[in-house]
Amino acid sequence: MGIPIVRTLPALRSAVAGWKAAGQRVGVVPTMGALHAGHLSLARAARATSDRVIVTLFVNPRQFDNPDDLAAYPRTEDADAARLAPLGIDLLYAPDPDQIYPPGFATTVTVAGAGEGLEGAFRPGHFDGVATVVAKLLLQTGADRAFFGEKDFQQLRLVQRLVRDLDIPTEITGCATVREPDGLALSSRNARLAAAERAVAPALAAALRKAADAIAAGTPAEHAVATARAGILAAGFDAVEYLELRRDADLAPTARTDEPARLLAAAWLGGVRLIDNMPLRR
Ligand code: PAF
Repeated sequence: MGIPIVRTLPALRSAVAGWKAAGQRVGVVPTMGALHAGHLSLARAARATSDRVIVTLFVNPRQFDNPDDLAAYPRTEDADAARLAPLGIDLLYAPDPDQIYPPGFATTVTVAGAGEGLEGAFRPGHFDGVATVVAKLLLQTGADRAFFGEKDFQQLRLVQRLVRDLDIPTEITGCATVREPDGLALSSRNARLAAAERAVAPALAAALRKAADAIAAGTPAEHAVATARAGILAAGFDAVEYLELRRDADLAPTARTDEPARLLAAAWLGGVRLIDNMPLRR
């Protein structure tokens, strides 16, 4: 038998109420589907630490700043369910759109600070869409814990700020980025890379790793960042949108190496926008 799929809030609430009445702790993995091994690692982390696990599948129109991107986003529910089947997931929540945005829906959640700069500077409205849907999914599922990948590091920090600010009683767990053997961070966008671009793509992670190690070893951040930018372009990327050193805790700009920090970048390769980040090793 496959994983039960519910599409309405009352059906979700009824399942969760039964679990909570039995004293069970609920973990949720919010996704937009098109699942890859990175998502599966989040589902495994949830399975290992929660009595019950919900995976949500919802392509959230409000977080797409580009209508073509939304139209092109793969909808692969059957394949997603099949990939999750061996992991012991208890429920898929694939809400009908009006369960998230009913007629008359008028609320937008904005997380100032965490949602500004980096991705926020290049994708207007994106993080308002993320914050709004994540707030809804956490409140709808009533999850005790939620799992997010470090690949979208700014999103992770934004969600942590969101739950603190709104007193949403869900503990947020960040999970390590899953990479291909050549270092490329897993992303549903990787499938859009042509073969020649796929061969170039690992240069982003490699440049970030090299720059992070150089900064940790004493190279001035400004110099290491400029070298990394040049290296990414020389490898064949078309443009680097941002490449910045930020404080790990709150993503404030920093040039210091005596506190946890990481490099974050976005770059274009043949019409595909890739993002990645690397912590400074200490
Ligand atoms: O990271 C994602 O896939 C999405 O931004 C999320 C958290 C599921 C919200 O739609």
